[in-house]
Amino acid sequence: MAVTQLLSCALLVIAVGAAAGFQEGLRGHQIWELPSSIPAALEDLLRDGLLDSLSHSKSHRKVHVPVEGLDNARRILKERDVEFKVLVDDLAEHFQGERRRRREVDTRAAESCTENSCPAPLSNAYMTFTQMEYYLREINTTYAPRVSVKSIGKSVEGRDIWMVHVRSGGCAQGKSVYLECGIHPREWIAPAVCLQIVSRLAVHCSVTRAFNVYIVPMANPDGYVYTWTTNRLWRKNRGNAGGQCVGVDLNRNWGFKFGVGASSNPCSEVYMGPSAFSEPETQALRDVMTSLSEAGNLELVIAVHSYGQMLLYPWGWTTEEAPDTPEMAALGEIFANTAHLRHNTVYTVTSSSSGLYFASGATDDWAKGVLNTKFVYTLELRDTGEFGFKLEKSQILPTTQEVWEGFKAMLLAITGQKYTLL
Ligand code: ARG
Ligand code: ZN
Repeated sequence: MAVTQLLSCALLVIAVGAAAGFQEGLRGHQIWELPSSIPAALEDLLRDGLLDSLSHSKSHRKVHVPVEGLDNARRILKERDVEFKVLVDDLAEHFQGERRRRREVDTRAAESCTENSCPAPLSNAYMTFTQMEYYLREINTTYAPRVSVKSIGKSVEGRDIWMVHVRSGGCAQGKSVYLECGIHPREWIAPAVCLQIVSRLAVHCSVTRAFNVYIVPMANPDGYVYTWTTNRLWRKNRGNAGGQCVGVDLNRNWGFKFGVGASSNPCSEVYMGPSAFSEPETQALRDVMTSLSEAGNLELVIAVHSYGQMLLYPWGWTTEEAPDTPEMAALGEIFANTAHLRHNTVYTVTSSSSGLYFASGATDDWAKGVLNTKFVYTLELRDTGEFGFKLEKSQILPTTQEVWEGFKAMLLAITGQKYTLL
């Protein structure tokens, strides 16, 4: 009895100790609700990535205001007499309180993926990077040789960037499909869904009969770890560490039309980096995609993000039409229509510059512009802004289910088969 008490007491101390630094990177940051139309000076801050837009409806928009920008943003609003509501006045407090409430439930869910055994990706909780590695290690042995996992490079802080290869079922010259997930770390649903897809592909051999599927479930491991420990809303990598502001937006760092529509301010959320492919993460991703493309048959590239429920095709850097636009739009509709059948979720299919905003240096434009891949997309998963980046874990499974159906339908369509919902 005494020993148990002592033990739980020790555990408590550890837990409290860990909580002290938890989400400390968000100390003093706020969330505001603004009217839908705002002063131009604030629009500028948003566009430059110095204020961070979380959602935008017809009547309102929610923004994350970093502590460094509070005074400036407040002044602009005051001068123009614009009313706004502070929804969260200290994001660090907010996340700490949430963690206290959640801890017990999460611990129970996490028990099914430990160092000793992680046979399946968690579908009822978000996984830590370490857990993802446990799972990847396990499938690499369980499903060998059909499934293999290898490191394609290291992040700034030296973590592995893993790629899963699910082999085609013996069909000669299978076409290749490539999924990139987690380049933006706060979009937790992206790696969660990609790992679910990995596990489904491993089991359902028939789906990949004619395909080699390559999946990078976590393209930005440093950033992801940082969202778990220090700043849940982190978007960039952890590069440029010597500078005044940390991080490069890896989805602005690709070497196609680099810098045409991205920020050169290192403090911006959409900082493109000092030069194209300045970051080890984008270098690793570029190299592996290049070799897949050179091997021939790279038919489909999807960069998985959240949120917005959109399937975007190039270009992002201009509103001009990209090659194969009718084909990309048609295949996109097949995805959206099939995904819709599952839970009635609407995914909008559009080109990214006309449907979303201008942005250059992203994975998709590079795949289209340099590799010339026929079908290229950025998939924005659930939701449309209610929970945003903090999508509840209860949505992991339904999101996976609809994306899985949509994805299978795309594969079948590429091989000219008709899809029937199983
Ligand atoms: N949300 C993604 C981003 O901001 C969308 C990228 C779409 N593609 C593009 N080339 N703009 O990175
Ligand atoms: Zn993203």
